[in-house]
Amino acid sequence: MTVRATVVGVGHYLPERIVENAVFAQGLTGITEDTIQLDTSDEWIRSRSGIERRHFAAPGQTTSDLATRAARAALDDAGLAADDVDAIVLATSTADLTFPSAATMVQAQLGMTRGFAFDVQAVCAGFIYALANANALILSGQAKRVMVIGAETFSRIMDWTDRGTCVLFGDGAGALILEASEGDGTNADRGILSTDLNSDGRFRDILYVDGGSSTGTTGYLRMEGKEVFRHAVEKLAATATTAMEKVGMTPDQIDWVVPHQANIRIITGTARKLGLPMEQVVTTVQDHGNTSAASIPLALSVGKERGQIKRGDVVVTEAIGGGLAWGAVVLRW
Ligand code: ACO
Repeated sequence: MTVRATVVGVGHYLPERIVENAVFAQGLTGITEDTIQLDTSDEWIRSRSGIERRHFAAPGQTTSDLATRAARAALDDAGLAADDVDAIVLATSTADLTFPSAATMVQAQLGMTRGFAFDVQAVCAGFIYALANANALILSGQAKRVMVIGAETFSRIMDWTDRGTCVLFGDGAGALILEASEGDGTNADRGILSTDLNSDGRFRDILYVDGGSSTGTTGYLRMEGKEVFRHAVEKLAATATTAMEKVGMTPDQIDWVVPHQANIRIITGTARKLGLPMEQVVTTVQDHGNTSAASIPLALSVGKERGQIKRGDVVVTEAIGGGLAWGAVVLRW
């Protein structure tokens, strides 16, 4: 008998406000005190990133609010109550406060009075890291059910004068519930089959937020887009391949790739390197923009809703982000 961490519920939440690309040039109100007006176009954003629109949180709406909505949707999908869950692992780089964790705020908002909750910070790779941690908690017997959430309000860390970054990101949240189940130890089992995590702190300066305890401010996202792009395709294809190799799998055994939704050119480049057609790739970047740690659970939830991901399908999910940190998970849905 092999213990497996199996997905028993999934859900997501997107803030109501949808902003189309064209609005950045026309004038975007309600985000800062002034109107945001950028020298950009729908054509530029769409052709460079594949993004057409994104959701922005309402004033006062926080990361833990979005996360709680996604968590409730996942609990409903699983037919569970909050107290049926032993742990919450929440991936975010935009927690409401420096501390306590957004995860404990979600725990309180759900009315969950038992178990434990903590945040994971690995930027856009955060959900992969959170899944790997949740898997380890289940395999080591420390928890039987773990809620894994990715939630972000990146609109709060945008420099709205930097057209090279602020048009690329959005807000949202997604959640999965993992449950300990019994498998026979083969790739036929449902649940997480393998994980692969990597980081290399030498690349700090190509993607970071220039605030924190060292500055006493929240700071703004800074990115050397071309440099990030250069690392992304190569490292994503490598980690996805490693995760498959760990369980003796090859791309022809994969039903779906669910990539971090940063840029359609990174997504297609990685799929090409893996030798998988775009018909087997779940894409939501056009509607959500880059929601960092939220993008993968959002794509899993939307992919299930669309009827793409079905029970028994093999899913490879991969992400890269600030750090650099990157990784992949292979699971049978
Ligand atoms: N509208 C119009 N023009 C723009 C905009 C904009 N929003 N932003 C930049 N430009 C201009 C630049 O000023 C530059 O003009 P110049 O040639 O006169 O100097 C020109 O467009 C080209 O800019 P580049 O930065 O060279 O454009 P590039 O083709 O590299 O595309 C992009 C930029 C989309 C950021 C790309 O590099 C990219 O996708 N990189 C990966 C970034 C990414 O996905 N990061 C997230 C992954 S990690 C994570 O998720 C946190």
